[in-house]
Amino acid sequence: MIKKCLFPAAGYGTRFLPATKATPKEMLPILTKPLIQYGVEEALEAGMHTMAIVTGRGKRAIEDHFDVSYELEHQILGTSKEDNLSCIRSLIEQCTFSYTRQIEMNGLGHAILTGETLIGDQPFAVILADDLCQGDTSGVLSQMIDVFEQYQCSIVAIEEVPMEETNKYGVIAGKLIDETDNIYRVTDMVEKPNPDDAPSNLAIIGRYILTPDIFDILRNTPPGKGGEIQITDALLTQAKQGKVIAYKFNGKRFDCGSVRGFVEATNYFAKQEGII
Ligand code: UTP
Repeated sequence: MIKKCLFPAAGYGTRFLPATKATPKEMLPILTKPLIQYGVEEALEAGMHTMAIVTGRGKRAIEDHFDVSYELEHQILGTSKEDNLSCIRSLIEQCTFSYTRQIEMNGLGHAILTGETLIGDQPFAVILADDLCQGDTSGVLSQMIDVFEQYQCSIVAIEEVPMEETNKYGVIAGKLIDETDNIYRVTDMVEKPNPDDAPSNLAIIGRYILTPDIFDILRNTPPGKGGEIQITDALLTQAKQGKVIAYKFNGKRFDCGSVRGFVEATNYFAKQEGII
């Protein structure tokens, strides 16, 4: 059973400057909820109660969000506004949150390795909170847990993207092994390839289930694209042993790390809530 979910949340979020100068990207709200809260809700729905968050300088608001705020709660006690906090209160009651800091921003792979101290020697999930996902029937992580239970190896969530956008993602090559459930055994993966060099248009999005041997692999993975330690490079080592499955999930994903994706998500959720 997978109990822990890791949230790498140390990145600078430069695409959202100046908003992210003093506010973590993960705290930007879609309607009234910060991105990272959607992620925690998705992990909880998938049965995880331990949230491990990799933060960095300027990210303290994340810790404050998953804590009680006595003054505020006292102030609104007994008023209709109390309800506005009920969803976050319920998360705080059901989950434990632990934090560690990434001292140097050496890439997503490095952020995941930094989280080892919170995860230990067990399979774990990873959510990049700026990829906001809504599953069709169950959450995307929940769907991935079902795949993990069957294959017992690392799982990446994938989506078809326009060929001209492959340079924004890790891209896989794989053999379709289950047509009904859209499951591929990964044979190759490349970080942010130019369309001409991309092995497919199947892009990895911000949801992973990783087996703990990934930590030793990451320790021995040299910096790759952009001089950063890339999780895609470490996963390739596992893929060469036949130990990575790619799963084309059922649902929607919004790239809320980009302004366009953020606006699309806001419109989508506002329509769902009947606000527009
Ligand atoms: P991004 O590639 O979106 O980078 O990171 P970023 O810094 O957050 O945003 P931009 O590109 O400057 O606008 C993908 C995920 O990996 C985390 C980020 O927090 C985000 O969730 N990350 C990235 C780290 O935790 N540490 C890093 O060193 C790099």
